[in-house]
Amino acid sequence: MIVSKMVPLFSLVALAAVLASIAFAAQDLVALRQADMQAMATAAKTMAGMFRDAGSYSSMEFEKAAAAISARSGTVLAGHFAHGLDDPGSKASSEVGPERERFGALANDLRDYARALEAAAVENPGAMTESMRMKPGEAMGGGPFGTHVQSKAQLASIPAEHIFHLMMQTCTTCHARFRTSR
Ligand code: HEC
Repeated sequence: MIVSKMVPLFSLVALAAVLASIAFAAQDLVALRQADMQAMATAAKTMAGMFRDAGSYSSMEFEKAAAAISARSGTVLAGHFAHGLDDPGSKASSEVGPERERFGALANDLRDYARALEAAAVENPGAMTESMRMKPGEAMGGGPFGTHVQSKAQLASIPAEHIFHLMMQTCTTCHARFRTSR
């Protein structure tokens, strides 16, 4: 008798604990992805500073900044939005769910651009070379490529500064579609 009465009580307590841990995990995930976004913003600022003042370019610091973004993009980024879309502390739009494919594609573009920038840093170990800079009149706004990465070979053929702008456009494109201002 006692046991049969205790079982439902016990399972209720267990259920409550499970629910609480799911809520906690979702909150953790929101905090984690927001911290990752902040880290990417800091890294992007570092790179922007080097393009603004080429004398401050350090191949190692540039590579580190690009790697900070590549490590937080792609499937890692997309995975951090698997839950917690309706968390009150999150600004993720509910569109992420139904448009997961597009969201993931943008996250992958971000990774590809960041990796191309890592490669550029390795190829330019000394000063920031002219080959890293955009040429006057070089098509911007996604240029001939749009913001979507067409192929790695194409990426390797465009200057790092241009790739950087395409990368930043990927941040903006995703935010415009998938970040709310609530
Ligand atoms: C694939 C989509 C996507 C890409 C790409 C992306 N973001 Fe975000 N970002 C989001 C979403 C969604 C949020 C809202 C997250 C939340 O509040 O849960 C966000 C939030 C942020 C925030 C606010 C974090 C906070 O503390 O609340 C910053 C800063 C940010 N992003 C910077 C960047 C930068 C810089 C890049 C590019 C290097 C970038 N993001 C690329 C989707 C993206």
